[in-house]
Amino acid sequence: MSGLENKIIFITGAASGIGKATSLACKARGAKIIATDLSPASDIEAALTLSDSDLALQLDVTDEAGIVAAMETVKSKYGRLDGLVNSAGINGQGPAHLISKEHWERTLEVQLTGSFMICQKALPFFMEQKSGSIVNVASTYGLIGGPGNISYNTAKGGVVQMTRCLAADYGALGIRANCVAPGYIETPLTSMLDNAGEMRETFINMHLLRRPGKPEEVASAICFLLSDDAGYITGTALPVDGGFSSAKLLG
Ligand code: NAI
Repeated sequence: MSGLENKIIFITGAASGIGKATSLACKARGAKIIATDLSPASDIEAALTLSDSDLALQLDVTDEAGIVAAMETVKSKYGRLDGLVNSAGINGQGPAHLISKEHWERTLEVQLTGSFMICQKALPFFMEQKSGSIVNVASTYGLIGGPGNISYNTAKGGVVQMTRCLAADYGALGIRANCVAPGYIETPLTSMLDNAGEMRETFINMHLLRRPGKPEEVASAICFLLSDDAGYITGTALPVDGGFSSAKLLG
């Protein structure tokens, strides 16, 4: 499999779910990856089979100094950066009247500000090179409203809009910014649905393909957006949602 040969790709949330599948897919397509996560580097290495040309870094996306240090490490090891995937994320908790200000702020800090800070600190590479591809992991609930998860859905709407603004600000330099908007993907983040019975079935049936997605199916879309095959695509939010956001079913 090809498409990302020798590209240097920085990935957050790389130890689990979509970030892990993306890390493996990037490597399978010939990329060298900087796999980062809140988890210790040893856990990241255990989740992925890394080679000497890859790097595992423990990194909290809410730690600005840590992000700066990580980018310095990338500069000294590779001297450049070709792609960036923001997949780190946490879940939300409920509707407006049931969540605290702390919960609201934490969700936005990890999902939106964290992605922003990673993009901001990677931009000097891309601006100097006059190339680079950013892929942010948004959500189908960043494209439409949804019940019971206001902090998460709001953050994901922000990720979609932030991505469009990055595309607008840096397109003239040849830098592309896109996001994927996944539907229900079976990962540890959505494991609370595993035993949700009828509710889970109802949710699955809102997806036109009538099944949950796999992390690998999101990873494929991310790899496409990272690659030169997507060279004329920027500012878009690509649904990877089994049709969830495309049609409202009867019944
Ligand atoms: P996951 O829980 O399997 O993976 C998330 C990873 O992010 C974990 O490895 C976790 O350690 C890491 N993480 C959490 N907080 C962090 C922080 N402060 N700094 C660095 N890393 C941190 O979840 P999943 O499903 O793979 O989610 C990945 C992204 O996809 C998230 O942004 C999520 O919101 C988004 N998404 C997931 C969907 C799904 O159905 N699973 C649907 C739509 C979007």
